Amino acid sequence: MVVQHARRAALFLLACVVSARVAAAIPDGLLPNGNFEAAPATSQLNGTRVMGRYAIPHWEISGFVEYIGPAQKQGDMILPVPEGAYAVRLGNEASIRQLLNVTRKAYYSITFSAARTCAQAERLNVTVAPESDVLPIQTVYTANGWDSYSWAFKARRSAVTLIVHNPGVTEDAACGPLLDSFAIKTLQVPQRTKNNMLKNGDFEEGPYIFPDTPWGVLVPPLDEDDYSPLSPWMVLSSTKSVKYLDAAHYAVPRGAHAVELVSGVETALVQDVRTVPGRPYRLEFSAGDAGNGCVGSLAVQAYAARGSVKVAYQSQGKGGYERGALEFTAIANQTRVVFVSMAYTMKNDGTLCGPVVDDASLVGFRNNAARRLLL
Ligand SMILES: *[C@@H]1O[C@H](CO)[C@@H](O)[C@H](O)[C@H]1NC(C)=O
Ligand SMILES: *[C@@H]1O[C@H](CO)[C@@H](O)[C@H](O)[C@H]1NC(C)=O
Ligand SMILES: *[C@@H]1O[C@H](CO)[C@@H](O)[C@H](O)[C@H]1NC(C)=O
Ligand SMILES: *[C@@H]1O[C@H](CO)[C@@H](O)[C@H](O)[C@H]1NC(C)=O
Repeated sequence: MVVQHARRAALFLLACVVSARVAAAIPDGLLPNGNFEAAPATSQLNGTRVMGRYAIPHWEISGFVEYIGPAQKQGDMILPVPEGAYAVRLGNEASIRQLLNVTRKAYYSITFSAARTCAQAERLNVTVAPESDVLPIQTVYTANGWDSYSWAFKARRSAVTLIVHNPGVTEDAACGPLLDSFAIKTLQVPQRTKNNMLKNGDFEEGPYIFPDTPWGVLVPPLDEDDYSPLSPWMVLSSTKSVKYLDAAHYAVPRGAHAVELVSGVETALVQDVRTVPGRPYRLEFSAGDAGNGCVGSLAVQAYAARGSVKVAYQSQGKGGYERGALEFTAIANQTRVVFVSMAYTMKNDGTLCGPVVDDASLVGFRNNAARRLLL
């Protein structure tokens, strides 16, 4: 009787601990006050400048941070806010941070919106220790000036601090990027499937996209050893991104997501795959347009080992795609599969656009005879 009681109590306690752990980790979606709609007390503001370190609910600030409301002007220009009525601006060397309760060892991606104001080559240093990357935010890909950016990290502890810092030093201390709409998403680690040596070949696992954000999410270039929001795909470039798209707002060749190569030859989308030197392989993929008015001669070039193929696609800007295929023989233990857009293309509104890549697969054969038999 006593034993049973004790056991029941222990089970109950265990259940409490488990549910407390589950409840503590942050859900996907907007961070607490991630859209800055909860305002500082007016006593904490001097004009637009936020005075107190803890004045913005759920955030901690340092340096020259402004709280930007509707119809806030910069000279003669009104600073628009993408979501709700409020955003923040980080001046020279200013930063904002938030403590996040996460699941240790899980992977997360952060999505946020940013707009450049007066400085030209703005950058943001995003950190969840020990990982840190400086994201370039100089090229604007939307007509309204706001882009969403993504960044990923592996949680080393159950409580981590997200820090976004403006490393800029411009003459006007207030010049700096506007920020809004911070969200988080737990990333599943993509696995190899039976018929595809590429992981996440359909790009279904990627950063959070707000359901009401129509402009996709940029995946910026990162150091090769940092976790990518599109893992195991990596974006290689000095300053240019690719754009992650959702089927709710774009024409996507397959599934719910695809990638738009918006930066021409300056950016490569790559994945490294284990291969056996000397064996034949076949890479297939879709190349098309996102139905977003990107009209013209688009082309995706794919490379693997010593092989390459160019898929030319004449876009009416209304959606559609073609399949491309590349057969190659591996020359090393590891083969880098590379997708690049061969040209810059512009939409009517002057923003850059490019071909869409989706549904990529790689299969290997024991030898050429086996390959011929199967295809
Ligand atoms: C508010 O800002 C103005 C201009 O920068 C400054 O002169 C003033 O002292 C500030 N007021 C407070 C209470 O800090
Ligand atoms: C994070 O967890 C701590 C303790 O586990 C709790 O006190 C705190 O309120 C949590 N913070 C958030 C933002 O959920
Ligand atoms: C980015 O910020 C982190 C944390 O504040 C810092 O350790 C790192 O040196 C910064 N990197 C750059 C390039 O400014
Ligand atoms: C390929 O892998 C094998 C076994 O893992 C190893 O012995 C060999 O050195 C590797 N070759 C290269 C070129 O990396």
